[in-house]
Amino acid sequence: MQRQVSRSQLEEANTNRACTVTDSSLPPTAMVGGLEEGVSSSGHVGPMPFKDLAGVQEQDDEQDMSTPREDDEYAGIISALPSATNRFRGLCQYQGAWMLHRTVAGVISVQRRFVPRPGGGDVLLASPPKCGTTWVKALSFATMARAAYPPSAGDHPLLRLNPHDCVPSMEDLFGAGREAQMEVLPSPRLMHTHMHHPLLPPSLAHNPDCKIVYVCREPKDMMVSLWHFTKAIVTSGGRTYSFSDVLEWTCEGKSPYGPFWDHLLGYWRASKATPERVLFLKYEEMLADQVGTIRELARFLGVPFTTAEEAAGLPLDIAKLCSIDTMRGLDANKTGKSWQFFKFPNESFFRKGVVGDWVNHMTPEMARKVDAIVEEKLRGSGLTFTS
Ligand code: A3P
Repeated sequence: MQRQVSRSQLEEANTNRACTVTDSSLPPTAMVGGLEEGVSSSGHVGPMPFKDLAGVQEQDDEQDMSTPREDDEYAGIISALPSATNRFRGLCQYQGAWMLHRTVAGVISVQRRFVPRPGGGDVLLASPPKCGTTWVKALSFATMARAAYPPSAGDHPLLRLNPHDCVPSMEDLFGAGREAQMEVLPSPRLMHTHMHHPLLPPSLAHNPDCKIVYVCREPKDMMVSLWHFTKAIVTSGGRTYSFSDVLEWTCEGKSPYGPFWDHLLGYWRASKATPERVLFLKYEEMLADQVGTIRELARFLGVPFTTAEEAAGLPLDIAKLCSIDTMRGLDANKTGKSWQFFKFPNESFFRKGVVGDWVNHMTPEMARKVDAIVEEKLRGSGLTFTS
């Protein structure tokens, strides 16, 4: 039987960590003295829900991600970048990737300011938008934090917090000038990015202490999901887009974090070169075998399920906790806006959660066009999708 680490112990551990925000040389055990169970053998206490951490405050203002901030220190760099001429407002190209102006500032800031935590075992979740980011955040958090937060417990953080409140998105945080909050996360830190692999700083991309979990999705379903998302997040007076618009941008490569094929190939190649450091997941395979995926995730992250945990049904408990049906039904996900920096409605992250919804949106001609692009761009890589 595992004993839960009490909240006060965790808070105490966190407070200690928060007090030493600039001292990244401190061994993780220095902040968790006295904790025995519910803590990994390395003495780590993380992850903990980002929103719960001392020193992390809510961003009050709505972020307009499409225009550079006037006080942005990178405004000079950003204003010189090529802009997309399509109808998607505010996309520009930085180091080969298309992204919103405000995102570029966050990306440059991550590249220049990210500080790895020595020996801390950082875990980076990566994905193109609309490919299962929210789900993989929930799964990874629940899997890694299962000693402190048993997945069947009635007070599990994922029952009261949106997954984006638990796992911060790095470029949003850095873009808002809040990178110091990364230091408040207890080790191992769990964080997310939409950045292309070649854009990651070497301290993330080539750091033996950092593991990367990548999730992607069959491109036609990704496009459908992106279109629904653009509709769901449109605010009064905002611009609406047709499905054809979304199809056109993504096929041109000029969609947020596009070209999607470059996004896929960067992490695909990294996973082939260093499979022990980059786990490449496909949404369709995750849905087909949720418990198997959770076991694979746990093994990859160095926290495989013990025989006792298997016997107690923990992998299945995590699958149930993180299933779209559970998540969609929670108040935390039905109301409010994601608490970090983009302020998207929480409910916009949970739609159908199925494979093959593209048949309801694409003509056979549209589907053939996308399939041909995917086939051409991924040819020779060994990466394929079926749907
Ligand atoms: P659909 O729009 O196809 O339903 P992201 O989190 O990267 O924004 O991706 C959103 C997509 O993941 C949406 O797909 C959403 O419904 C789906 N999704 C969100 N939570 C999920 C979960 N717990 N399980 C499976 N799919 C989920």
